[in-house]
Amino acid sequence: MTREPDRYAVTGYPVKHSFSPFIHGMFAKQTKQRMTYRLLEIAPEQLADQVTNFFADGGKGMNVTIPHKQAVFPLCKYRTPRAEIAGAVNTLAIQPDDELLGDNTDGAGLVVDLLTNLRLKLRESRILLLGAGGAARGVLGPLLEQAPALLHVVNRDKTKANALLGEFHRLGELLAGGFDDVQSEPYDLIINATAASLQGEVPPITGAAVGRQTTCYDMAYSKEDTAFVKWANEQGTGHAEVGWGMLVEQAAEAFLLWRGVRPDTTPVLAAVRSPTPVLQEAPQNAPK
Ligand code: ATR
Repeated sequence: MTREPDRYAVTGYPVKHSFSPFIHGMFAKQTKQRMTYRLLEIAPEQLADQVTNFFADGGKGMNVTIPHKQAVFPLCKYRTPRAEIAGAVNTLAIQPDDELLGDNTDGAGLVVDLLTNLRLKLRESRILLLGAGGAARGVLGPLLEQAPALLHVVNRDKTKANALLGEFHRLGELLAGGFDDVQSEPYDLIINATAASLQGEVPPITGAAVGRQTTCYDMAYSKEDTAFVKWANEQGTGHAEVGWGMLVEQAAEAFLLWRGVRPDTTPVLAAVRSPTPVLQEAPQNAPK
């Protein structure tokens, strides 16, 4: 008797815009894994019940996106150190004792994209991180692990940036402040982890923070340039990028946790970046 393919899903609210089924569909095909991966939209008040049901029903793993990354944290009996540090979980995996392991692959995905795909040097670099919400929190630990000369976290609400400083300062050279504390000397890397791009806005920071040697990276992704990327180009940035690479690399880290194999991300990155819509081309992932 042939075994049913292993079942995976991504949950969020809403989640229908998610590229994860497409990305994991390509990974599965490339690495010849028998698995399905579907969208699972869950309203916040039903999160615990539906996640529990998915795994009780034989599900093997789940990706978790906005707004559930913090809410699934207490559902996990086990958590990886990087999930503990982030205080948020983006990947769930069922364990042999039927308990859940929570991992956070966002920061690792960003760092792999910066180091491997963009070939940036992070050690001894000056990094400006815009935002102090969940997205910023998830990448702080892995960025500090790269031993930058400075990681400067700034946020509209300064108190949130200061709270992150209190929590993360033992991990490396961290400074915190508001947007008006941004330094006038160009940074090597500016990462936008605010939700401003989703509203078509740009955090109000000085253009003097951007020079020819500065890479500007928006964690938001879209087929068109985001407001932040347009702004960075106007300031004369050396390179501006939207976060497709982070999206694909965090997925590859989750796939590795689940299947024990890290897929080649190059063709997948090319596919999600292509101008033609790709969402419906995920043959393995028909919703059940
Ligand atoms: P996420 O999990 O995506 O980080 P979040 O926790 O709600 O979402 O955090 C959103 C972040 O984007 C915050 O840093 C927020 O700044 P405040 O803490 O001051 O609210 C930031 N943000 C949202 N809209 C913004 C805008 N238009 N300009 C600048 N920062 C913005």
